[in-house]
Amino acid sequence: MEESTKQPGPEFVAIAIDGPAASGKSSVARSLAKKLGYLYVNSGSLYRAMTWVFLKQGIPTEPGDAVRGFLKGLDINCGARDGASTVRIDGEDPGDELQSQDVNRNVSAVSAIPEVRELLVAKLVAYRELDNIVMEGRDIGSVVLPDTPYKFYIDASQEVRDRRRRDQGQRDEIRERDQRDSSRAASPLVVAPDARVIDTTKMTVEEVVQEILSELRGKGLDLDS
Ligand code: CDP
Ligand code: CDP
Repeated sequence: MEESTKQPGPEFVAIAIDGPAASGKSSVARSLAKKLGYLYVNSGSLYRAMTWVFLKQGIPTEPGDAVRGFLKGLDINCGARDGASTVRIDGEDPGDELQSQDVNRNVSAVSAIPEVRELLVAKLVAYRELDNIVMEGRDIGSVVLPDTPYKFYIDASQEVRDRRRRDQGQRDEIRERDQRDSSRAASPLVVAPDARVIDTTKMTVEEVVQEILSELRGKGLDLDS
């Protein structure tokens, strides 16, 4: 077979940020994307939106024929507005429901279903064709954007992460969620071997963003274009 002379790889820049709950992924990714003029993609909101629709329609949150049939009939629309990703399911925007206690409790179970992941990973990969992106989640560096050279894993001590989530006024059992997200068979939360790990326990959001920017400069990424 003749080798293709076409260069593989996307024309847009993609930055991956992973980490456990309340490590600061959303705040850091949003701020970084704004500074760079990139699109901010919150992958967790897709898994949360999927969980919201499962609960609304009474679908069992485990793998099986019922789930496969249900997924086939769903219209999942992933877009972008004001520099950030958006999601609508069957024409509806779940809004604040994404952060409800019910969604917090069930999202890890829904996210562990391989068919759910397959469907949502395809939606996430498509953002890469749309714009320069900063995408945050659990498996972005390992599964969604494995070929990007710009990968970060941000973490913080358990106590600090518990406090951060409590200070947001949310009831969210993050220890259980992290345990499930790390131990599931389908693309668990892992540190990609080529990710730069940042311990943010004693850092502000702005300090983390500055550290990432300095790492990106070090890797030769042109941040001014
Ligand atoms: O903001 P927080 O870290 O608490 O959660 P999130 O990013 O909104 O993600 C909610 C849940 O979605 C996680 O606990 C995972 O179960 C799932 N998720 C995932 O499986 N893969 C991703 N790339 C992103 C989220
Ligand atoms: O997306 P993820 O669940 O990883 O975390 P987040 O929602 O961005 O951050 C959780 C809370 O911690 C927010 O209120 C952030 O402002 C705060 N935070 C912080 O105080 N210091 C950091 N270095 C990162 C986040």
